[in-house]
Amino acid sequence: MSLPRMPDVLVIGGGVIGLVTAWRAAQRGFATAVVDPEPGGGAAQVAAGMLAAVTELHHGEQILLGLNLASARRYPDFAAELTELTGHDLGYRRCGTLAVALDADDRAHLRDLHALQRQSGLESEWLSGRDCRRLEPMLAPGVRGGLRVDGDHQIDPRRLAHALVTACERAGVVFHRTWAERLTVARGRAAGCVLSDGTALGAGQVVLAAGSRSGQLAGVPDDVLPPVRPVKGQVLRLTVPKRYAPFLSRTVRAVVRGSHVYLVPRLSGELVVGATSEELGWDTTVTAGGVYQLLRDAHELVPGITELPLTETRAGLRPGSPDNAPLLGPTELDGLLLATGHYRNGVLLTPVTGDAMAHVLATGELPDEARPFTPRRFRAPALTEQPV
Ligand code: GLY
Repeated sequence: MSLPRMPDVLVIGGGVIGLVTAWRAAQRGFATAVVDPEPGGGAAQVAAGMLAAVTELHHGEQILLGLNLASARRYPDFAAELTELTGHDLGYRRCGTLAVALDADDRAHLRDLHALQRQSGLESEWLSGRDCRRLEPMLAPGVRGGLRVDGDHQIDPRRLAHALVTACERAGVVFHRTWAERLTVARGRAAGCVLSDGTALGAGQVVLAAGSRSGQLAGVPDDVLPPVRPVKGQVLRLTVPKRYAPFLSRTVRAVVRGSHVYLVPRLSGELVVGATSEELGWDTTVTAGGVYQLLRDAHELVPGITELPLTETRAGLRPGSPDNAPLLGPTELDGLLLATGHYRNGVLLTPVTGDAMAHVLATGELPDEARPFTPRRFRAPALTEQPV
């Protein structure tokens, strides 16, 4: 009887980031395994799936913008490849986005975002309130203006996760449907992990891709543990009855009293409304306050929303990092790599993360576009001796 082959690559975490890493690694010929009790679960089950590199641009995130745009550019081919391989439609929709302002403060915020977008060479057009409503007749009469960004699209993250599980299975990835209890380290090198049933798995290289839980894995040396924290987001799902369609033809978003709200319409009739942003540790309770805030803000934007059936409320945890950007590639512990900390951009960054991780697993080096995201950027600077 032959023993099962030890994987070349063991991925801890089966959300979209872990799955795309495993899929791309297996395509490169690595024997690959994934540890996760529910592959395809996690934040992608909650996320709205906006591919919003331009409308979600923030000051101080210009380097991240480069990675976000690189990933957005890959989406058409990435989605086509996954669909061809698996037969699953991913709900990739090139619908564009409209970011609108409801009062003078929102307008000032959007004007500032527009200036930043133009400085960054991005395509974004300022529209009057009337032009916004011409584009989206369901918008509130009080809309004061907006930004039309035709390049920010959407995908259905649940379909994406499902397709990635299928793609992994077809590529021969082995799934261990349980928790990873601890990382094993042997002779100063990551050597695998111990599963919750006590089984020890060895591996040539280990990728920690456990989303918001990535900083929690036992056995990872303290100075290597990723500085990732959970950032709660509550999200609603409504259904647009056929008689109301098309309710919205593109993603519509705004900042209302300082909180972001977005409405993402799918061709299936699902309308996703998100999202709160709460620093509450591991809490994933859906609260009356969260639902109220989202419905109140969405109603100010699109009053007709109150007519729609509310079909689902859910909360998930974004993997936040200190600079809002992902941690990709080798750590100070030989054999341990990270693919985590994607914060607001996990779904958007899925294609480029898969490519970057496959490249670094094969060559030991991150590709140029991913180099700024090395986990080593968070290493404490060495103390230099000061003359007395
Ligand atoms: N990118 C959307 C969110 O994090 O809510």
